[in-house]
Amino acid sequence: MLTSKRILLIIGGGIAAFKSLDLIRRLRDQGATVVPVLTRAAEEFVTPLSASALSAEKVYRDLFDLTDEAEMGHIELSRDADLLVVAPATADLMAKMSAGLANDLASTLLLATDKPVMIVPAMNVRMWEHPATQRNLAQLQADGIAVIGPDEGPMACGEFGPGRMAEVPEIVTAVTAALTDGPLKGKHIIVTSGPTHEPIDPVRYIANRSSGRQGAAIAAALRDLGADVTYVSGPAEVPPPAGVTVHMIETAREMLSAVKTALPADAAVFAAAVADWHVENASDSKIKKTIGGMPALEFAENPDILKTVSMLHDGRPDLVVGFAAETDDVIANATAKRARKGCDWILANDVSPETGIMGGSENKVSLVTSDGVEDWPRMGKDETARQLALRIAKALGI
Ligand code: C5P
Repeated sequence: MLTSKRILLIIGGGIAAFKSLDLIRRLRDQGATVVPVLTRAAEEFVTPLSASALSAEKVYRDLFDLTDEAEMGHIELSRDADLLVVAPATADLMAKMSAGLANDLASTLLLATDKPVMIVPAMNVRMWEHPATQRNLAQLQADGIAVIGPDEGPMACGEFGPGRMAEVPEIVTAVTAALTDGPLKGKHIIVTSGPTHEPIDPVRYIANRSSGRQGAAIAAALRDLGADVTYVSGPAEVPPPAGVTVHMIETAREMLSAVKTALPADAAVFAAAVADWHVENASDSKIKKTIGGMPALEFAENPDILKTVSMLHDGRPDLVVGFAAETDDVIANATAKRARKGCDWILANDVSPETGIMGGSENKVSLVTSDGVEDWPRMGKDETARQLALRIAKALGI
């Protein structure tokens, strides 16, 4: 609930502005006070009267309004709220924010505030993908501004791709997460991450290219929503995030044992790239080069951690999420994997070398659930993690 929380909602001038009227209602349903600010362009899409009627508050529009300044100056207005939300955040507003311009009421409030700021971008797909917008986005994220969405799908302009404003319930969950103790407070979530190392002898092992970046980001995002996170990681490039319980392991068998020890949990996210096999005849001493050539390695199957936990009769987490790193037929394989492993969700991604996803900082995933397949736009692994954490919060009924 958002009782006694005050939100300054800056509505930018885009076709998605109509959704912001619904956002006002939904935030008020949660008990929040919503004070709307309309840019000039926003008034082409929604009227100040509808924003005022829905919010039951005065609507602010003009930097140089003498009455407004006498009642509450713009500096005070920018600091009176607990959170500033910009929805829709147009390409123009993002550019102004990233450059620190203050040439109208909205941009001035955003520059003058000392409160957290969240933006919900919405624009044409080409505008979103333009290097200038992506540069501004990176700057805003570096400045500590939370970014929600955008979603991918058909757009009002007839094109298809990332740029649609996030849906209202998702924005409400993000606002709630930002303004309350954390929707996952009191929930225990296990996250596996990184590669496994399967020894051949004391100095050699079989590994894979997983960096652990996505798993670490998921653990951090869940922690940020208040969850009590157990992070079970193989030898990853990326260090474990702060503020989580860490179990470092090497092999798949050790990973399973650490996961079992960490149960019970409300949810489990298996982001690790676990080796399917281990060397059954691994040597206790270093294998020497012999004239006979390379010794034959014998392999035995590793336990499937995701499947084992998904199939538990007693103590199965309410939500089990697996990953499917594929190079071909990504969705078909992920859908089959979801059924085979018995997990609730699969996050599928294409890890073909040309995507740069394996070991890179970006991800493009599809979420496969019992309701079907949702394609998420390509975004930073941190943002993918945040979106997933919000979805987990929603699935756990918060
Ligand atoms: O079967 P595959 O390795 O493609 O499945 C990928 C998913 O299963 C990932 O979520 C991974 O963490 C998990 N997995 C596991 N234990 C294994 C193999 C995979 O938990 N032995």
